[in-house]
Amino acid sequence: MTPQHIFLVGPMGAGKSTIGRHLADIFNLPFVDIDSEIESRAGADIQWIFDMEGEQGFRDRECKVLLDLAGKAQPTVIATGGGIVLRDENRAVLERSGKVIYLSATAEQLFERTRRDKSRPLLQVEDRRTVIAELVATRDPLYRQVADLIFPSGSMQPNKLAKKLAEALSAL
Ligand code: S3P
Repeated sequence: MTPQHIFLVGPMGAGKSTIGRHLADIFNLPFVDIDSEIESRAGADIQWIFDMEGEQGFRDRECKVLLDLAGKAQPTVIATGGGIVLRDENRAVLERSGKVIYLSATAEQLFERTRRDKSRPLLQVEDRRTVIAELVATRDPLYRQVADLIFPSGSMQPNKLAKKLAEALSAL
């Protein structure tokens, strides 16, 4: 049987890792962050991977890690990177491997939350506001396509939001 993982999807700065850790505690499940897993397998950070291999190289690594984690028998709470939904094959893996929570946020919220960000290659640009707006516009329909639950991420404290999400997941 396909294991029932819990995936968090959504844009950079939505709080997927923070909420994911709380959810993992609530359900007493392991937690994995795909970006961290990519970095530990590569022995390098994401910026380095983008610099050396380009976005395509990073996406290939991301795809492989998602497939590996999704195939594990142990149900796990998995925080994905914001671009995971770009590839059709990733969306198919998410849809068939568990429950998917979309943590949504407005472009303005994301702009504020990523103000001091130095680690995300796609945000190291002059006009961050426009880039974020474009990313939200392109990806929001893709997040919605895979989501079993959609929650606005900025609506309450992370621990409270995780509790609400846990209730909603249990009711699915
Ligand atoms: C990306 C989001 C990042 C990371 C990489 C690319 C994206 O993850 O995977 O910088 O394309 O939106 P977070 O969403 O965890 O910041």
